[in-house]
Amino acid sequence: MEDEYLAEPFRIKMVENLKITDRKYREEAIKKGHYNLFCIDAEDVYIDLLTDSGTSAMSDSQWAGIMMGNQAYAGSRNYKHFEDVLRGIFGYRHILPTHQGRASENLLFSSIVKKGNVVPANSHFDTTRANVESNGGIALNLVIEEAYDTEKILPFKGNMDLEKLKECIKKEGKNIPLILMTVTNNAGGGQPVSMENLKAVSKIARENKIPFFIDACRYAENSYFIKMREKGYENKTPLEIAREMFALADGCTFSAKKDGLVNIGGALAFNDDALLEIVREKLILIEGFTSYGGLACRDLEAVAIGVMEALQEDYLKNRIGQTQYLGDKLKEGGVPMVLPFGGHAIYVDAKKFLPNIPQSQFPAQALGCELYCEAGVRGVEIGTATFGKTENGKAVYPKLELLRLAIPRRAYTNRHMDVVARALINIYKRRDKLKGLKMTYEAKSLRHFTAKYEKL
Ligand code: F0G
Repeated sequence: MEDEYLAEPFRIKMVENLKITDRKYREEAIKKGHYNLFCIDAEDVYIDLLTDSGTSAMSDSQWAGIMMGNQAYAGSRNYKHFEDVLRGIFGYRHILPTHQGRASENLLFSSIVKKGNVVPANSHFDTTRANVESNGGIALNLVIEEAYDTEKILPFKGNMDLEKLKECIKKEGKNIPLILMTVTNNAGGGQPVSMENLKAVSKIARENKIPFFIDACRYAENSYFIKMREKGYENKTPLEIAREMFALADGCTFSAKKDGLVNIGGALAFNDDALLEIVREKLILIEGFTSYGGLACRDLEAVAIGVMEALQEDYLKNRIGQTQYLGDKLKEGGVPMVLPFGGHAIYVDAKKFLPNIPQSQFPAQALGCELYCEAGVRGVEIGTATFGKTENGKAVYPKLELLRLAIPRRAYTNRHMDVVARALINIYKRRDKLKGLKMTYEAKSLRHFTAKYEKL
């Protein structure tokens, strides 16, 4: 479809009614949840931008596929469909189903990461970091330095810094069990990685005989960015680009809850036959048999159909377009964000939004709570609570302090995005009145999910 005429490439067949609340109600709710947005009832949220994961609206074809589920412990036809479709995209020999991305990470990292190993990535997402660390490894972020400058406009701000990677290999050598590339780079603003960079990392990995894996959660969105921004890919389809990307690596972890357009599902795919022997045993032990991997067979069918829908160009144009739409509105209102806008989310720069609140007082978390009180919009903190930590009694702060507004696929209209923008711009106008938070409880690992705060 020509750009000027393309709106949503779908129409709405079923709706979920939303609860409408007032500010007083929301202030009570967030107080009851100890100022942690993970600890409030989803029903009390009007526009839920906590995550784009597992929150997609499925299509009628996917629901029809679910009705055609062939529930069998072994050898279900839905698994065969799932395997065929994913092999057609990823190209790898072994396609193992899992219930979601972190299960794939667990299977892979517990099989190849040993104590003291170093795992370089452009940026690790919180679950990949936790899975590396829980196996005694060290998760290194080697994204290009410009990624930390939120205002710098670059087409591929998710790229790996090749010099840093080479240095790391020189220093650690055989201590590196794999190199990981997250596409798009969720922890760094949802920024894409270029094919050129993937090729270079692949070359380095192969020269040094280090396995190279892709964290493929948002590979379709990354493929679309390559099509839009990288020379030589203008006339290729997202599927062709995706195939080229995966051919550069030895395997991938995949959460189908993102670019699989499903509510649950994932995969671990790779070529190594020896690795299969180890992983298959674990899969059966912790997820389920190799032809369902922790899912009902009907869910495999929904993935098989969803991944192909998510590779459609009109879908991707609309999808990335909605994120840009929200970003453009916020920019008009002066809201500081990570630029250029990412694929699945807008990342508000809370350090710049609230310069009067130091990182020790969780500015992104405080902003998230205020946005919820203002309009019932829920985002998620990607800053001190998520990536900061206490080391030897001292607080360590991440470079970026962001509030992520992740947009579920096919779920909200641009009128919802208008509300989000209006609310955030209204808060921006009175930003000097906002106060920070004090953390009163933190768990040892993944503290942001269960942390408790008090208002200062
Ligand atoms: N890798 C990346 C880059 C992710 O964004 C996620 C999940 C995972 C791995 C793990 O996948 O949730 O299926 O186990 N990201 C979600 C988010 C939770 O909100 O960004 P999962």
